[in-house]
Amino acid sequence: MEEKEYDVAILGAGPGGYPTAIKLAQNGKKVALIEAKDIGGTCLNRGCIPTKTLIANAEVLHHVKAAHEYGIVAKDVKIDFGYMTKQKDEIVHKLQKSLEGLVRANRIDLFCGFGKFTSPNTLKVIGKDNALIRANSIVIATGSEPKEIPAFAFDGKYIHSSTSILQLERLPKKMAIVGGGVIGCEFASLYAELGVEVSLIEALDRLLPLECETLSNFLTKSFQKRGIHLQIGALVSQIQKNEGGISVLLKDGKKIDADLALVAIGRSLNIADIGLEKAGVVTDKGMIPVDECMQTNVAGIYAIGDITAKAMYAHVATHQGFVAASHILNEEERLHMDYDAIPGVIFTHPEIGTVGMNLEQALKRGYSAKRASYPLSALGKAQAAKETEGFAQVVIDTETGQILGAQIVGADASSLISCMTYAIANELTIECITDTIHAHPTLAESWMEASFIARGIPLHFPPVVKKS
Ligand code: NAI
Repeated sequence: MEEKEYDVAILGAGPGGYPTAIKLAQNGKKVALIEAKDIGGTCLNRGCIPTKTLIANAEVLHHVKAAHEYGIVAKDVKIDFGYMTKQKDEIVHKLQKSLEGLVRANRIDLFCGFGKFTSPNTLKVIGKDNALIRANSIVIATGSEPKEIPAFAFDGKYIHSSTSILQLERLPKKMAIVGGGVIGCEFASLYAELGVEVSLIEALDRLLPLECETLSNFLTKSFQKRGIHLQIGALVSQIQKNEGGISVLLKDGKKIDADLALVAIGRSLNIADIGLEKAGVVTDKGMIPVDECMQTNVAGIYAIGDITAKAMYAHVATHQGFVAASHILNEEERLHMDYDAIPGVIFTHPEIGTVGMNLEQALKRGYSAKRASYPLSALGKAQAAKETEGFAQVVIDTETGQILGAQIVGADASSLISCMTYAIANELTIECITDTIHAHPTLAESWMEASFIARGIPLHFPPVVKKS
């Protein structure tokens, strides 16, 4: 087997691994990037990009269905699902090709195969490429897979994971979705828009149990209005196959029949079978603990992305990779992770954007905090665009005025949350927001309006009348 020497080897070419490789290569390091499946990882091939392509199609359909509200007559609207899925695959393929080109342009050596530690500084790659790679530093960025449990094992036909559901060739009439977390809610929203009768089943007492209650409640009402059948506080104990479909059995004895089921109950981290024991890397409850430089217990071995179980977002993995690279490069001004300024976006309709703490979290952490919300319906731009569903809210430290968190539901929440991400990452106060000139008419004005309310001097909102 061919033996090769590198400064850094990176295991996994997802949104954690490949940006880390680029940063290191741009700073003169000789880098090996090892990938068992497709370059781009879950995000590009089985996650963010294919799902957001389908969601973008559903969003167009949503507007076409509402065309009459804009004085436009759209008759005989039909869905060509085959075209949608083909176009999704083409977009993924195009991005894969450009990513491969980017890796080559940065003179990174890409190895296609499954990599495994054979010692703390050696990885054996088996697959299309076979090699023994020796490196001074190794970054583990192996990501995660949909969690599978025996009671409803995936079969890719009737019981789907978030990966296999992307290969559906035609739309079912009825779909049952197990798990009302981020993935369950995004798919429920997508398929309901495409005309599928969706039942969404969540074991805990609300949708999106990890988000604040105001967001959960808003999405629940919005989903109910759109005809999504919600079973909240309902534990799925089994999924049975029957003639032509499935029955989802709930613990309380209820049964939901559908053509197929999507199971989205979390993700399992890819840390088995990569020879961590040969490297001496310690794991804890299925994840890899890391220090503030993303270094594991073994000097020179780093872990980034989902396997660190910090926050399962592509953008977190990327930044963690930059932090690890900064340490490997021994940069004078080291990058660090600010877990209090992580944006999160949920691509439901309406979209949800969050950053920093919600009110409950801020109070729990001992802040004297309060929350101020502004309804999008009060904005001129929202009225003009007929995008009035939703609200923007800020959570502030009442002692200093510092913005601790922000949440938004509504059109383009995914982009709008970045305004508050800059604010929180730079420790701005609400005065900074109200003193900034916001372009009019825009949905971004909702941040300024919510901040005026937080200061007790609302602008386009009735003042609070003090009782005498
Ligand atoms: P999740 O942990 O967010 O939600 C899973 C839900 O399933 C939980 O609410 C849980 O209570 C429920 N559940 C578990 N067992 C159940 C049962 N037997 N019956 C009924 N309900 C049950 O996991 P999810 O949605 O699979 O997402 C995985 C990760 O991927 C998350 O960390 C998420 O942040 C990330 N992700 C992020 C996206 C984004 O940023 N837009 C998109 C997709 C995934």
